[in-house]
Amino acid sequence: MPPGSFARLATLLDPVEPGSTPVNLSVGDPRGKVPEFVTEAIQRHAYQFGEYPPINGTCDWREAAAGWLVRRFGLPEKAINPDTNLLPLTGTREGLFLAPFVVMPEKKADKRPAILIPNPFYQCYAAAALSAGAEAIFVPATKETNFLPNYAGLPPEVLARTAAVYICSPSNPEGACASEEYWRTLFAAADQYDFTVFADECYADLYYAKPPASALPVRYAQSKSFTRLLTFHSLSKRSGLPGLRSGIVAGDAGLMAKFRALRNYAGPQMPMPLMAASAAAWSDETHVAENRALYAERLRWAERYLGNRIPFKSPDGGFFLWLDVGNGEEAALKLWREAGIRVLPGAYMGREIEAGKPETNPGFRYIRVALVQDLSTIQAALGRLGEILSGAP
Ligand SMILES: Cc1ncc(COP(=O)(O)O)c(C=O)c1O
Repeated sequence: MPPGSFARLATLLDPVEPGSTPVNLSVGDPRGKVPEFVTEAIQRHAYQFGEYPPINGTCDWREAAAGWLVRRFGLPEKAINPDTNLLPLTGTREGLFLAPFVVMPEKKADKRPAILIPNPFYQCYAAAALSAGAEAIFVPATKETNFLPNYAGLPPEVLARTAAVYICSPSNPEGACASEEYWRTLFAAADQYDFTVFADECYADLYYAKPPASALPVRYAQSKSFTRLLTFHSLSKRSGLPGLRSGIVAGDAGLMAKFRALRNYAGPQMPMPLMAASAAAWSDETHVAENRALYAERLRWAERYLGNRIPFKSPDGGFFLWLDVGNGEEAALKLWREAGIRVLPGAYMGREIEAGKPETNPGFRYIRVALVQDLSTIQAALGRLGEILSGAP
């Protein structure tokens, strides 16, 4: 693994004096207002810090998580069994990291198993694939492929040794959403070549025009079950509570049984008071609608400030702008030097397709801008960003 994205960003920017008081638009830290009901639930259950929590979660948590999945994805009420189709995660990241260990064969088609990863990608996927002994194969997600990887179009010999694929929708960094057709095609390939789909949908509730199509309902409509599917959901984005460390893994009951067994040996449990707070957060949509409205307002301003200066595709979901600026590293350095604006070069989330040719990294031309600061900070920063990168006042 190369150094992490933010370590690379520090190496690029820290030796350089910022042009103004720094504004950090590089990290996707949602900085949500903590809803009162979350604080109250933690206080009410604080005495349970004295107990070991169950790896399966409490009955209340399981009911709340199953209820949200059924409501949010329009599933038949009995489609999700709270006891067999889901488990709590201490943030989706740990679940995404452990998932390959659940499904990894020693060999696939007599070869070293592969895990397919979109390029660019959330860096945990590659660490997980390598730790589980798989070959990580990076599949470009570019403008030409609607910013999603075309896994189903890979050569049959690659798909035959594929044990699992990561797919992120809405995607970080591009904000692209998989359509129903995309999911159907991917599941058809999973059935044909016998691999598992890890659907990272931690931004599923942060959308703009309409809720994105999702893995669970498409898979259920196809097979009346969730065969070969694990989906990952998070309170970090929907509720703006990344510090709570709370997520769900849901899907195929057979895979979940294996996941539970692994977690019983080695998984982190979610503390009971945080489980109570999480159950409350999965059961409430008011604070989520408020969060969504805040992001929509920030995106409207971004379109207004940047739209006629830097052409960009508005994200369908998530809270990042993925801006084509020609050379992301140069742009990040310029923004920092001239205005103290900190953004992430897209290349730091991707991998070169041809070794030694940085421009073959699908993130090379881009910067990722996180819309997580308050509106006035974003307005001021985007105004400057637009001026500096377009060269026009
Ligand atoms: C694509 C993606 N997946 C997973 C995560 C991890 O989220 P959590 O806070 O639930 O661990 C993030 C967080 O930034 C992310 O961007």
